[in-house]
Amino acid sequence: METAPLTASPPAYEETPLQGVDHIEFFVGNARQAAHYYRSAFGFDVTAYAGPETGIRDRASYVLRQGEVVLVMTAPLGPDGEIAGQVQRHGDGVRALALQVTDVDAAHHDAVQRGARSVTAPHTVEDRQGAVRLAAVRTFGDTVHTFVDRSEYQGPFLPGYRDERRPGGGAGLALVDHCVCNVELGRMDEWVSWYNQIFGFEVFQEFDENDIATQYSALRSKVVRGGRRGSVTFPINEPAQGLRRSQIQEYLDYYHGPGVQHIALHTDDIVASVDHLRRQGAEFLRAPEAYYRSLPERIGDIDEDLDRLRALDVLVDRDEHGYLLQIFTRPVADRPTLFFEVIQRKGCRGFGKGNFKALFEAIEREQAERGNL
Ligand code: FE2
Repeated sequence: METAPLTASPPAYEETPLQGVDHIEFFVGNARQAAHYYRSAFGFDVTAYAGPETGIRDRASYVLRQGEVVLVMTAPLGPDGEIAGQVQRHGDGVRALALQVTDVDAAHHDAVQRGARSVTAPHTVEDRQGAVRLAAVRTFGDTVHTFVDRSEYQGPFLPGYRDERRPGGGAGLALVDHCVCNVELGRMDEWVSWYNQIFGFEVFQEFDENDIATQYSALRSKVVRGGRRGSVTFPINEPAQGLRRSQIQEYLDYYHGPGVQHIALHTDDIVASVDHLRRQGAEFLRAPEAYYRSLPERIGDIDEDLDRLRALDVLVDRDEHGYLLQIFTRPVADRPTLFFEVIQRKGCRGFGKGNFKALFEAIEREQAERGNL
C-alpha cells in the first residue's frame, strides 16, 4: 500500500466529520461525449463547465447533477500530465471520491497525521461568487479523496466553472448509496484498516467466498461506513480463488490496479427509474429466468409486480429489516471496469448478498463472451 505506516492514535472521526459525498470526478478520454452519455442515457442535467473558455487551459470538465448526485467528467486537452497519464493507464474511471467537510484543514491534517498521503495541500480557490477550500489525500490505486468546503460559495460548482443549463430530464436518481472499490488479492483488510485509521469508518458488513462465489468466480468484501449519520459507504472487494479468474481480477487487469468498481445510486421508484433509463439507452445486465422462479420463495411478499421486475431485470433481496431492489448496468466504457447500480431500499440495510450469485452468473456470461473466463 502506498501509504505511511499506520501508527496514529485510535480513530476519532467525530473530530473531522465527513458530511457526505460531495461529488465524484471521472478522468475520461472525451468529457464532452461522456457528459452527453450521462445526460441522454441517465437523465443527468449538465449544470457547469470548465475549459479554455473559462480560463482552464489543460482540461475540459462537465458537471452533471441529478437529485443530490454530482458527477464531474474531466478530459485532458493534451498528451502530457496527470489526467492524460491516468486515462491512458486506466481508461475512463473514477479519479476522485470527493467528501464534504466543514473544516478542510483539519480533515487533511488529521488524515495525514493518521497515515494518509497528501496529494494536494489545503488551498483556497475563489472567484466573484465566493471561495472554496480544497485539499486531497490518496487512497487505493490512483484514486483520491478530495475534501471540499463550499459553505462560502454561491457559484454553479467550483471557481473556474461557468453555469450551464442543459437539462437531462431526470430518471429519479436521488443520491449516492455506496461506492465500491476493487483492490488486489490479499489487500482488502489493509484498506479496511486504512479507512478505520484515517476516517474512523467501521466495518458494517462482510462477505466471503462462501457467500459470494459461483462455480468460477469468487470474491471477498467488507463494507466500511462512516461520516455524518453513516452517509459514506465504501464496500471493498478483493478477488478470491475460484475455478477461473475472478471478475474482480478481470477488473484489476483491465483497470491496471485498484479502483472504483461501481457507484450505486438510490431511487425511490426503481421500476419507473429503470423503465426510463432503458428507454433512454442505458444498458443493464440480464437476470437469469430461473432467478425469478425462485424469487417468491426466497423473498416473500413485496409491493412490486413480479412480472414487471422480471421484464426490467430488477433483482430483489431481503434482510431482517426489509428488502431492497437493485439492478446493475453493463460497464459504461469499453474496458470491463466501472459500472453503475440503481438501488431502492425498503428497509433493507444489505447490499444484495442473496443476489451476488445471480449477478455474477450474469457477469460471467459476458466475461466468457470476451474470452476472459
Ligand atoms: Fe452495490
